[in-house]
Amino acid sequence: MAAIFIFIWLFASVLSISSASSPLLINGSTADAAPDCGTGNPIDDCWRCDPGWADNRQRLADCAVGFGRRAVGRKGGRVYVVNDTGDDAARPAPGTLRYGLVQDEPLWIVFAGDMTISSAHELVVSSRKTVDGRGARVVVGDGGACFAVRGASDVVIHGLTIRRCRPAPKLEAGMSDGDGVGVHNSSDVWVDHCTVEACADGLIDVVVGSTRVTLSNKLLRNHDKAILLGHNDDYTDDKAMQVTVAFNRFGPGLVQRMPRCRFGLFHVINNDYIAWQKYAIGGSASPTIISHGNRFYADMAKEVTKRDDDVPESVWHHWNWVSDGDLMLNGAFFRASGEARTDNLKAPSFARSAPSVPSMTSSAGALSCKEGSHC
Ligand SMILES: *[C@@H]1O[C@H](CO)[C@@H](O)[C@H](O)[C@H]1NC(C)=O
Ligand SMILES: *[C@@H]1O[C@H](CO)[C@@H](O)[C@H](O)[C@H]1NC(C)=O
Ligand SMILES: *[C@@H]1O[C@H](CO)[C@@H](O)[C@H](O)[C@H]1NC(C)=O
Repeated sequence: MAAIFIFIWLFASVLSISSASSPLLINGSTADAAPDCGTGNPIDDCWRCDPGWADNRQRLADCAVGFGRRAVGRKGGRVYVVNDTGDDAARPAPGTLRYGLVQDEPLWIVFAGDMTISSAHELVVSSRKTVDGRGARVVVGDGGACFAVRGASDVVIHGLTIRRCRPAPKLEAGMSDGDGVGVHNSSDVWVDHCTVEACADGLIDVVVGSTRVTLSNKLLRNHDKAILLGHNDDYTDDKAMQVTVAFNRFGPGLVQRMPRCRFGLFHVINNDYIAWQKYAIGGSASPTIISHGNRFYADMAKEVTKRDDDVPESVWHHWNWVSDGDLMLNGAFFRASGEARTDNLKAPSFARSAPSVPSMTSSAGALSCKEGSHC
């Protein structure tokens, strides 16, 4: 009897602790907690509790986690304001997004107001750039070309809606694929809090020897092939690829590739999967996949995983695919494979348990932020 009372008392004290509205320490001062802060999402909790975020935008650069955490978009760079939706790829005009993206110097790129940028040529992002859409509703694509990070390092793309991206002539030669964000031969890249949907090819591709990439807090929906990580089964330079896919909401309306992986090391952490038509996580060419603390809600297709059909089980049963603490709902199941667990197969320290996924991903996608209040 006494034990039961102690238990109830303990439970009640835990409840009262977690519901207390304690002020949070921000940049040396205290501020009231925002409704969306303190969700346990380590990226958001790093900056979204600060009502003065707009005066301290570059704080975001310290908030990345995972393999792309060194991407700071060159914090300390000059702020460049996009105030012109026009685009002349051959002679970019000051005030346009492209003008900022092609500069050699580090820039923190922000937007003067709500705008839609629909370009005839893909928007090539050069090294040491942050594109920060907070405070404005910025749509990129809408029947035009979208982002290509090619041969670059240290790039952050945050707070944009990227949709209806279409193939377009490249400046050099040939056509782009029509991806939302294509990361080619690049390193230290972080894409956070973007809504990406309905493109001609993939929503996000990370290929051709790219590594140290984090794809987080995104809302991906209404599309067939969501995320491709790894160029093709012959491109062995992708063995060095390390990508973190965390705190994203996948769906509704997705079919496959959340993500599809080749060769490298992939951490798929604390994502919310709202059904998939074919599969959620797949791959070929012996990728190592750590799936930790995700919430998988199956619809018609129950299997989370998929190996290429032409690979026999005698081959893929050596691939290290680990499911650790995933929440499997409505019949979802993960077909694990691989050998003994090594340090390489551990989840990163920022990973949380699956039941906190709904609160951590509740504001996935582009945020609607106003200067002077919590974002
Ligand atoms: C608060 O942040 C601003 C901007 O980054 C910085 O200049 C200032 O030194 C910080 N204050 C404290 C007490 O850390
Ligand atoms: C737009 O930005 C450019 C480049 O920063 C600047 O030269 C121009 O004056 C701005 N135009 C307006 C209307 O603010
Ligand atoms: C990758 O980018 C570097 C420049 O950063 C370039 O020298 C190299 O040729 C590129 N490699 C490929 C495969 O595109």
